[in-house]
Amino acid sequence: MTGEKDTETMTAFSVNGKRVSVDAEPETPLLWAVREHLKLTGTKYGCGAGLCGACTVHVDGMAVRSCQTALSDVEGASVTTIEGLSPGSDHALQKAWVAEQVPQCGYCQSGQIMKAAELLAANGNPTRDEIVTHMNGNICRCGTYTRIIAAIQRAAREG
Ligand code: FES
Ligand code: FES
Repeated sequence: MTGEKDTETMTAFSVNGKRVSVDAEPETPLLWAVREHLKLTGTKYGCGAGLCGACTVHVDGMAVRSCQTALSDVEGASVTTIEGLSPGSDHALQKAWVAEQVPQCGYCQSGQIMKAAELLAANGNPTRDEIVTHMNGNICRCGTYTRIIAAIQRAAREG
């Protein structure tokens, strides 16, 4: 569809290196655009209220909660989801996650990895305390926290 009215609801940005335009109201949460419009379902809907971190993606390299990020906030930005973290799912964190057998139900895990990736991009050798502080707020109902920390430490070591 074309026309002035329609273009008013188009938001252009890039996702995992690809230019996209999403036709939705500007206040639509990025999470909806990612999952429903772009069919990238690795990013999860947990609480929808900014409380769990399951929906974490990167916007211009920063981890954000996509349920709390409006489409209008990502106009022209570069968004990375778990599907685009590495070309072959072989980011050091993804390898470490497998090695440490981190997931239980798995629901929170893409958000955990995206949040951890932000940390390692800024600090390649974080202390345990720095890891705990950075990851605080990404909730895992299955209680995989010990393995998450071990996997981040492994990725830092082997990355
Ligand atoms: S779904 Fe976004 S913080 Fe829980
Ligand atoms: S692995 Fe189930 S919520 Fe984290």
